[in-house]
Amino acid sequence: MSFPEIKEVCVVGAGNMGHQIGLCCALAGCTVRCTDVDDATLARAEKFADSYLEARVSKGKLDVDAAGSVRNRISFPPEIESAASNADIVIEAIIENLELKKRLFAQLDKICPEHCILSTNSSYIVSSKIAPATGKPERVCNLHFFNPALVMRLVEVVQGPHTSEETVQRVFSFAKKINKTPILLKKEIYGFVVNRILKAILDEALHLHDIGVADYHDIDTAVVDALGHPMGPFRLLDLVGVDLQYQVCMERYRDTGDLRDMPSPLLVEKFVRKEWGRKSGVGFYRYDD
Ligand code: 3HC
Repeated sequence: MSFPEIKEVCVVGAGNMGHQIGLCCALAGCTVRCTDVDDATLARAEKFADSYLEARVSKGKLDVDAAGSVRNRISFPPEIESAASNADIVIEAIIENLELKKRLFAQLDKICPEHCILSTNSSYIVSSKIAPATGKPERVCNLHFFNPALVMRLVEVVQGPHTSEETVQRVFSFAKKINKTPILLKKEIYGFVVNRILKAILDEALHLHDIGVADYHDIDTAVVDALGHPMGPFRLLDLVGVDLQYQVCMERYRDTGDLRDMPSPLLVEKFVRKEWGRKSGVGFYRYDD
């Protein structure tokens, strides 16, 4: 059986990751329908698309006509049925809750065309936990983007034991089409490649702070000025979200029962205070706009 090229994309979850993923696809020529259960999130996503494209034009990175075409290719329907019924691929970018994801995938399985690939952008939930909720597990995989999705080139394609070779190949071609660099993970593993490495860095940075060696400004300076990273670990935590990192640690701790996987005291403190980073206006740093 041959499959059509992926042209129609549905993104479910229009938060920061979802709407930027949708824009990447629209910029690359795909027709994108980005949906969300929350009207305010959808409105913010649409506003972001307008202001992002305007900024690209004023920076001279896109001409007005091209920006207009991109804008015409992305829409923000509130109903999942109209967003997904014609999709060649769905990219799920909702909150990190397994039960919600299973329910959503079961619903998508009924709405989407037979050939449609169902992928999840989850940071740590592997698709074999979700695929049994569908009738086509061979078309389910992880497709993991990085924040900010419009800028970061890498995507991780994770092949579960249920994912067919053909799905992997189609997702790889799609990733290249949207100007990303895909890497293949042939096994499902907690945290995939990038977040495992990132967790080691973040854990050590939090530990150094927790035992009073240095404050977080200085740890960030060390990592930027000595290791050449574009931002230090605390600024990065603010970017990805303190809440997400807290959840990642808690989920890992629930799985392993290993106290070393518990979130650090500083991370717990920030989480409880709702100082979640850029999204809440304050994290380790302040974000006034
Ligand atoms: N959204 C969209 N675009 C953004 C952006 C954002 N939040 N922040 C910056 N940009 C764009 C700018 O518009 C600019 O685009 P242009 O060059 O085409 O005009 C470009 O990025 C560079 O921006 P700046 O000059 O303002 O700032 P920097 O050069 O400092 O780059 C950065 C900002 C790209 C965020 C850079 O600091 C960086 O790469 N940081 C590390 C990010 C990172 O490690 N991400 C991975 C996180 S892990 C993850 O996401 C996994 C998940 O599961 C948790």
